[in-house]
Amino acid sequence: MRWWHSLAAAGTLLAALAAALALSAAGLRPPAEHHGQSSSADARRPPLRFASRGTFKVAIFADLHYGENAWTDWGPAQDAGSDRVMAAVLDAEKPDFVVYLGDLVTANNLPIPNASMYSNRAISPTRGRGIPWATVFGNHDDMPFEWPPEWFSPAGVPPLHCPPASTSASGEDQGCSFRGTPRIDLMTAEISKNRLSYSSNGPRDLWPGVSNYVLQVLSKSQDDPALLLYFLDSGGGSYPEVISSAQVSWFQRQSQFFNPNGRIPELIFWHIPSTSYVKVAPKAKSEIRKPCIGSINKEDVAPQVAEWGMMDALAKRPSVKVAAAGILLAVDILQLKAIFVGHNHGLDWCCPYEKLWLCFARHTGYGGYGSWAKGARIIEISEQPFSIVSWIRMENGTKHSDVTLSS
Ligand SMILES: *[C@@H]1O[C@H](CO)[C@@H](O)[C@H](O)[C@H]1NC(C)=O
Ligand SMILES: *[C@@H]1O[C@H](CO)[C@@H](O)[C@H](O)[C@H]1NC(C)=O
Repeated sequence: MRWWHSLAAAGTLLAALAAALALSAAGLRPPAEHHGQSSSADARRPPLRFASRGTFKVAIFADLHYGENAWTDWGPAQDAGSDRVMAAVLDAEKPDFVVYLGDLVTANNLPIPNASMYSNRAISPTRGRGIPWATVFGNHDDMPFEWPPEWFSPAGVPPLHCPPASTSASGEDQGCSFRGTPRIDLMTAEISKNRLSYSSNGPRDLWPGVSNYVLQVLSKSQDDPALLLYFLDSGGGSYPEVISSAQVSWFQRQSQFFNPNGRIPELIFWHIPSTSYVKVAPKAKSEIRKPCIGSINKEDVAPQVAEWGMMDALAKRPSVKVAAAGILLAVDILQLKAIFVGHNHGLDWCCPYEKLWLCFARHTGYGGYGSWAKGARIIEISEQPFSIVSWIRMENGTKHSDVTLSS
């Protein structure tokens, strides 16, 4: 009983595998309706691939908050600190890919060209080392303009200087003014200027959410996808902090298309924790105990304002029956392994939830609230034998909070 299923089930699985193999030369290209009006993961970029050593290593840079108070000393000083953290992590870990997990910029008080310039600075340590990356938005990347109270003191409003036109969002005259920073301008600027950016504007019908897209990572030796990375925009800034029900339907169509029989491992990235994080969180400010793993638990989870079905959709991703040596094993394995969020600078744990892991990244930037030491969550996926492990690498080189996410 445990070693085989009916011939019919085996036949179905084999047919599905054959179909998947036939379709997957150089990775699947989603049909236009799934694709949105623009996608970066198109012919302009070579496919992402496991390295010849058989692993794919991802560094997550979360909550950099570039560009705070540029008119003071501390704003530019903390940006220099964020440059140093990313350089230290990239040089220690040499990742194959970087995920910018939102709040690259604190765009509240920036003219649009400045926000784009800071966003560009956030990606430059990665770009400078020739490492590809993808970006999702947080609640601070896209903010309505808030007039700083000190601008009403005798010091007054600082003179409005704008960077040269070449760093403006779309190359058009954006009007160098204080009017908040739309996500779409930031993303368009990033994609149009960076060959190594795998970010995308996502389908237009999901706007105002912008960073909604899927990336495939191909096997080291074949043109089969061996890992799927899903990116979602969890809102905030100019609109509510939420994953919409339209995004849930989009995710279901994408996962059905890219991974119909659920054989490919999946990881998901967005900025603001879902309410499910609250359910699994260790008691705030208490010690982190197994099965959770992490090093700081200094605040309450600040979750999205509503749950419109994303977590249900994820928990119900199909499990697969694993085939080994041509024999079907009656083992259910959910191929969706983990979700990664930022947003809470004082949390860096991973906790199990249903059959997957809910993880925080680690506050990477000197910008934003919190004086906890800076670092980055690293994820390493091995193809054969399959495993996903994660840890946190600190600015000073120490490493901690090792966790296996594939079990
Ligand atoms: C915008 O960028 C320009 C050019 O770098 C700079 O002079 C100006 O102070 C910046 N403004 C703000 C509000 O950051
Ligand atoms: C590195 O920073 C951590 C704080 O994250 C601290 O606990 C540790 O002692 C530091 N190690 C070294 C070698 O400086």
